Amino acid sequence: MTNKILVTGGAGYIGSHTCIALHEIGYDIVVYDNLSNSSREAINRTSTLIGQPIEFIKGDIRDAELLRQVFASHQFFGVIHFAGLKAVGESVAKPLMYYNNNVSGTITLLEIMAEYDVKNLIFSSSATVYGDPENLPIDETSKRSCTNPYGQSKLAVEHILEDLAVSDTSWSLITLRYFNPVGAHPSGQIGEDPNDIPNNLMPYISQVAVGKLDKLNIFGNDYPTIDGTGVRDFIHVIDLAQGHVAALNYLEKQTVPNESGVAKQNSIGFLPINLGTGKGTSVLELVSAFSDISGQTVPYQFTNRRDGDIASCYASADTALTLLGWEARLSITDMCRDVWRWQRLNPNGYKKDL
Ligand code: NAD
Ligand code: UD1
Repeated sequence: MTNKILVTGGAGYIGSHTCIALHEIGYDIVVYDNLSNSSREAINRTSTLIGQPIEFIKGDIRDAELLRQVFASHQFFGVIHFAGLKAVGESVAKPLMYYNNNVSGTITLLEIMAEYDVKNLIFSSSATVYGDPENLPIDETSKRSCTNPYGQSKLAVEHILEDLAVSDTSWSLITLRYFNPVGAHPSGQIGEDPNDIPNNLMPYISQVAVGKLDKLNIFGNDYPTIDGTGVRDFIHVIDLAQGHVAALNYLEKQTVPNESGVAKQNSIGFLPINLGTGKGTSVLELVSAFSDISGQTVPYQFTNRRDGDIASCYASADTALTLLGWEARLSITDMCRDVWRWQRLNPNGYKKDL
């Protein structure tokens, strides 16, 4: 059986960390990315951390012809599909761009996978598909609903994968629903590199701490939570990367020899799995943890709630533990320490010359 994995979006934040984790346990990886939200520098640094050049193909998941060439020249066990656009605000302003990239792109990828009979997929979904949850912690059977085009694009892909699994039982389609990925590689060489002013909390806090931004606006202090600020399930990107390794191992375990000794795979259809820690942390708790670790004050002010935000969101991580044997190990302290190291060593992210 081949151990080669196609990693779409592998130059990005979660993809680059996952490439390292995959390499560490012996997977052979090919990264396919159009670099629309990443850089060659990320590939170079990931290659250095791995200790050998990564096979990198610059390409778009909507480019069927190029994908065909890639599948024709490699024998893949499966695809880890990170490629996608992810900024909620931008998706509201440019919905067609988001549906085209995230939904049409995924359909093209699936069509080419089918052509080459590669039927194992791990898809990057998000806790955003749960909308405003009715119950906490959120398990995989919770109702799904989204209010913005980014979330809708993830939900649309989930529906497509469900329909595909029904139509053809030879597919194994693991959908990983990430909670709030934060953190960076402990080397400080790779991490999250947002364009412009960050939308998400952790990169915003770290840019305030390093002095790039004046103060944090905390969106609302009147939520029904421990201190009135929003509560989220922050998960270290290193744990998240290991979650992908565990999902791949799970897929491999479904491959058993048949009576004639030939490897045969038992397909698992559509399988959604939460990747979270199961613990909620409030905005103020995260600010305080980051100040402690960095030794910097993080000035903040309370402002109005952000449209579309919910009070609390944290995972039930039981399915991942039961099926994949995976659970998050790293703490909020680890997350803050690694983000702070990445931020200090790379105040301008991968853009060295600013
Ligand atoms: P990222 O932007 O750092 O990485 C995504 C990568 O995909 C980038 O390198 C980008 O250049 C590439 N890409 C985008 N469109 C492409 C296309 N059409 N063809 C080829 N490559 C393309 O984002 P990330 O944080 O690493 O997220 C990875 C995946 O996880 C995304 O699908 C995202 O929606 C999902 N996700 C992220 C988070 C998060 O908070 N980071 C949370 C939940 C889900
Ligand atoms: C956001 C997205 C979600 C996406 C996720 C990960 C929205 C509405 N949701 O989720 O779709 O999957 O990022 O990329 O954008 N906060 C502040 N000040 C800030 C930034 C954030 O107070 O400057 C607060 C928010 O109100 C929230 C918490 O911090 O309570 C976390 O925010 P964020 O990091 O943006 O993640 P989510 O809102 O969970």
